[in-house]
Amino acid sequence: MDKVAELRRAFARVGIVSIGPTTSGYLREAQLFHDLEASPNKMDDLVELAAEQGPAVAKRKKERAKRCWVRTDVGAHLRVRPEEGQTHRSAPTADYDNTLFLRACRRQPNDQIPVWLMRQAGRYMAEYQMVRSQSSFLELCKDPDLAAEVTITAVERLGVDAAIIFADILLPLEPLGVGLEYAKGEGPLILRPVRNEAAINNLNPVDVHESLGFVLQAIKNVRQDMHPRIPLIGFAGAPFTVAAYMIEGKGSRNYIPTKTLMHSSPKAWHQLMDKLVAVLSDYLNAQIEAGCQVVQIFDSWVGCLSPDDYREYVLPHNKRLIESVQKGTPVIHFGTGTATLLELQKEAGGDVIGLDWRMNIGPTWKRLGDVAIQGNLDPVILFSSLDVIRTQAKKILDAVGHKPGFIFNLGHGILPETPVDHVMALVDFIHEWRV
Ligand code: CP3
Repeated sequence: MDKVAELRRAFARVGIVSIGPTTSGYLREAQLFHDLEASPNKMDDLVELAAEQGPAVAKRKKERAKRCWVRTDVGAHLRVRPEEGQTHRSAPTADYDNTLFLRACRRQPNDQIPVWLMRQAGRYMAEYQMVRSQSSFLELCKDPDLAAEVTITAVERLGVDAAIIFADILLPLEPLGVGLEYAKGEGPLILRPVRNEAAINNLNPVDVHESLGFVLQAIKNVRQDMHPRIPLIGFAGAPFTVAAYMIEGKGSRNYIPTKTLMHSSPKAWHQLMDKLVAVLSDYLNAQIEAGCQVVQIFDSWVGCLSPDDYREYVLPHNKRLIESVQKGTPVIHFGTGTATLLELQKEAGGDVIGLDWRMNIGPTWKRLGDVAIQGNLDPVILFSSLDVIRTQAKKILDAVGHKPGFIFNLGHGILPETPVDHVMALVDFIHEWRV
């Protein structure tokens, strides 16, 4: 009946009572999760159970849905703008500064821990797969309505405290002129990798409003359609990680061309980094202007460098980029494999430092001192049982204690096969925690 999206939304607000494990299993396959299961598996037991416990379940789910403004009135991939006069803009004036997330970015005390998850909109989620089955990844990024849809759906489904605009760190490579493709099952591919000074000089100048206007429009759409209590994160790749993609042309293990260019032609390296900082700075500020409250810089590959090389070839550029971000907008500075680089990363700047899972958060935060922290659960933990997930999350929460300025997240993005119900349970667990 083409009502899948509406049905999914409605299920967020009612109790789902299953008659037994077989039904529960089918529901789970469809990424719908029962709230109650009859035992013994008879219809009268089901009715009795629903009568006894249903109201409390429905009340809890309605409240959760209200928190993140789950809308039942529109279809997911068919989202229509609300009628004039009924838009979310007419909801109470946005007060982002007082949200758990922005307060944590600024190290103001909270009685609850904010949580969002890197790559929260992605292939592990049925809603995303539904939209993605109709278009390629790049088409999805370039359609501001679909990108906004996918961004908001992830927030509604998980009940997280922040949205991140659906886009990719490699989108600026297309206007730079190096050719960008997402090959099926192989990840991103750069058609004309940049390997020498001539290629660096040949890069196109980029007007972000012109060539990345679709991201800015998607941000405006999200801000118009999403509840004003959810802050929106804009993002860009850090110059090193973007440069490394441009040079390698694809994923890499040893970064031989990147490091060789860096060490053998330092002048060309710094020219490339200068060009990227200019584009990425324009891009981040344009995202803020379009409606983002916070920006995150992803330096996903920088962990391959020694501290000395980071200081010489990366730090000054990251510093310039972060300093160029409009004042008053918090910056999250994220990297992976950075256990030995964190002090230098902090020196480069950012209100929040993102940690992967390869370090213990307690002593690491002590070491770093006066900065907010985001992280640091191993994304693979989400494949274990709920007990394991809660135990591991609790370890992080215990280590953080009462210290203001913590944002719960994974140490890196959610992996494609992650069970959605585990992700939802993690978010609920973090929200139930009182500081
Ligand atoms: O977090 C979110 O929900 C927002 C969207 C987002 C995507 N990519 C969507 C995406 C964000 C923040 C990114 C950042 C990104 N992209 C990074 C930095 C974070 C990290 O994971 O280290 C990197 C390195 C990329 C580059 C990239 N894009 C890779 C390596 C891949 C392929 C591998 C993979 O994980 O799929 C992509 C494609 C991509 N970007 C997908 C999504 C949802 C999957 C595309 C699909 O539907 O097939």
